[in-house]
Amino acid sequence: MTRHFAIVPAAGSGSRMGAERPKQYLDLCGKPLLWHALATLTRVARIDAAFVVLSPEDEWWDSFDWTGLGPRLRVLRVGGATRAASVTNALQAVAAEVHPEDWVLVHDAARACLSVAQVDALIDALADDPVGGLLALPVADTLKRADVDGRVLMTVSREAMWQAQTPQMFRHGLLSRALAAAPGVTDEAGAVEALGLAPRLVAADATNFKVTYPQDLALAAQILHARSVQ
Ligand code: C5P
Repeated sequence: MTRHFAIVPAAGSGSRMGAERPKQYLDLCGKPLLWHALATLTRVARIDAAFVVLSPEDEWWDSFDWTGLGPRLRVLRVGGATRAASVTNALQAVAAEVHPEDWVLVHDAARACLSVAQVDALIDALADDPVGGLLALPVADTLKRADVDGRVLMTVSREAMWQAQTPQMFRHGLLSRALAAAPGVTDEAGAVEALGLAPRLVAADATNFKVTYPQDLALAAQILHARSVQ
């Protein structure tokens, strides 16, 4: 029986936020931002454990109470200089427990509005997939490529264009090999693509966006609040 594990890289500084603390610890509905994605992943019945990846220098984690998330939440203080390095270190750290054929779902700490239904849809869609895949959103807007002055250089066709989200779900063995061969990628799918494989795109929705700029916090709070009163 193939098992599922989550890895949540949370070792970034979140510099685009311009905040006084790392983005993953900013307040969102009375909890640290990071709490929300971890709460969702630890509620997914098929996920055996969710590993959060912190910077070894992280001084914030211990100042919050995470006990409510239960024993399936596990902490790895092995974050690296890049997101890919953080994920690579985590894959190595769990290798004694996670088998090469087990699925690993890598999820951005900053995608706080991930829902259990979205994770279940991803796991269902990829259950028999030989490669793996990711949640993604078909591009709805017309795309423009900019020049250095911020003027439109050209219009890019949105036909068949998707925005990559997370979780990105691959088998532990394949993902470890892919990241070792392509450490410069910005997402796991990019590393798997570099092996010549084609990850499956699983349609998600815009609520699974990445909190990146200060104004994103208010939108995330509205989405979480609307769900809590449904
Ligand atoms: O900066 P960005 O939002 O693209 O980061 C995506 C995810 O990767 C975040 O959850 C961030 O904390 C994580 N990350 C990491 N280690 C780094 C850089 C980013 O775990 N060195």
